[in-house]
Amino acid sequence: MDVFLNEIEKNAENTLADGGGSSTPDANDRANFIHEKSLTATAVELFLAGTDTAATVLRWALLYMMTLPEIQAKVQQELDSVVGRSRMPKWADRLILPYTEAVLLEIQRIRTVLPLGAPHVAAKDTKIGDYDVPKGSIIVSNLWAVHNDPDIWTEPDQFRPERFLDEDGKLRHREEFIPFSAGHRVCLGENLAKMEIFIFFTYILHTFTIKNPYNKPYSLKGISGVTFGPIDVEIVAENRD
Ligand code: HEM
Repeated sequence: MDVFLNEIEKNAENTLADGGGSSTPDANDRANFIHEKSLTATAVELFLAGTDTAATVLRWALLYMMTLPEIQAKVQQELDSVVGRSRMPKWADRLILPYTEAVLLEIQRIRTVLPLGAPHVAAKDTKIGDYDVPKGSIIVSNLWAVHNDPDIWTEPDQFRPERFLDEDGKLRHREEFIPFSAGHRVCLGENLAKMEIFIFFTYILHTFTIKNPYNKPYSLKGISGVTFGPIDVEIVAENRD
């Protein structure tokens, strides 16, 4: 926002120096975009795109931990042995918490909160696999289909963090894992989202055990809205100390 405000100021100075009119096409483009209204719109967009998405991943994460107590216990064991009980986890710890990371990746695979990427337009005639894609075509990536393709993921409807681990228990890169979309233009908030999800998830499981109160019925089916999220369910967060 600071950079943007500085640009608005610079723009105003340039316009004054210009005698009030921006002469070059470049300067016109800047004047059309760099003003307070677009700054507000950009900030609002970041909140809209960045809040529900990461929060929905966390809601799925809590629901899955409630339904899979053995997996939750394994995450807590890893946190206890690597981070310990005397401090809270931090972002740098992800490198030495492969099981916890694999659980988070599996949650984002099995419950892809944005099942479809944003619509893109082909800038020129091109080919994708065997398909001719003429210039101007609208292309939407089906992230859900990739994350649930049985040719890529054995029994994709099963929750298996081990898909993201190699035989030494180290995190394994899977190029077919694309929750932030495919191609050059992907989610702008990817790194921030990864940090948020990791920190909230590890803080919560470091401090609490997630349980189902009174064995209430729950569903893992989910519901489509702005994002694909879990149906509201009551959980209990029991203090671990
Ligand atoms: C787990 C959390 C998130 C997921 C799964 C996610 C996923 C996505 C996906 C699939 C797209 C469409 C990309 C495309 O096909 O062009 C996208 C775009 C975008 N995301 Fe995220 N996102 C997340 C968090 C965030 C956060 C935290 C922010 C901002 C702080 C953010 C800001 C944006 C913006 C601005 C775009 C549009 C980018 C563009 O068109 O250039 N996202 N996101």
